[in-house]
Amino acid sequence: MLTHEQARAFYDRFGSKQDWQRFYEDRAVNDMISHGAFDTASSVFEFGCGTGRLAERLLMQCLPQNVSYLAIDSSPTMINLAQNRLSRFQDRAKVRLSLGDMALDVGPNQFDRFVCTYVMDLLAENDIRAVIREAHRVLAPNGLLCLVSLTHGYTTVCRFVEKLWVSVHSFRPVLVGGCRPVLLHPFLEGPKWNIRHENQISNFGLTSQIIVAEKVAT
Ligand SMILES: C[S@@+](CC[C@H](N)C(=O)[O-])C[C@H]1O[C@@H](n2cnc3c(N)ncnc32)[C@H](O)[C@@H]1O
Repeated sequence: MLTHEQARAFYDRFGSKQDWQRFYEDRAVNDMISHGAFDTASSVFEFGCGTGRLAERLLMQCLPQNVSYLAIDSSPTMINLAQNRLSRFQDRAKVRLSLGDMALDVGPNQFDRFVCTYVMDLLAENDIRAVIREAHRVLAPNGLLCLVSLTHGYTTVCRFVEKLWVSVHSFRPVLVGGCRPVLLHPFLEGPKWNIRHENQISNFGLTSQIIVAEKVAT
């Protein structure tokens, strides 16, 4: 795995090239959006917002006018890109640099959507657990956790591409941005989440998992 410092250095260099990944990401993100009931959201938290592409799309096309949107990322380059991109939504969208910590500097029960696309797959398992725990804390009861992540392939072609990807990742994780296929289910088991939507979508041999889960107040 990349350390937080290595991930930050990588995404600082990678910058706007992140948006080139749309060729395999967009269909999965569309699926997440269509199950995330964003038209009824009032406050959204995004973990690892990258260039702000998803935030811009949600603010322009899916969210109500009076929504508040808080996006964080640990890369200063990404934060600059996202800030420029979202400056016209100034009153509704805030972008904040994080130190890469999983502990989020926001109070409990504040958001009704927690969005995270293509970040879980670069975190260590303990960090994935910690982010999901934090998502549960900061979401209001019945709030939705909306995740998209690289996952395991289920066709011959996808399994072949996955094998290549995993070999590159184990040889030099930085060559694939630190990302590797993960399965998110095991992190959402238990009485705390009610999975409302789960799907896998493959594009160009890369498979993404989409999960929309509702916070069950405990
Ligand atoms: C593969 S990119 C995905 C960006 C964006 N979510 C998207 O779907 O285009 C991963 C992003 O997560 C950010 N990131 C990595 N580790 C992080 C951490 N510990 N805390 C916050 N952001 C992190 C990176 O800086 C990068 O912008």
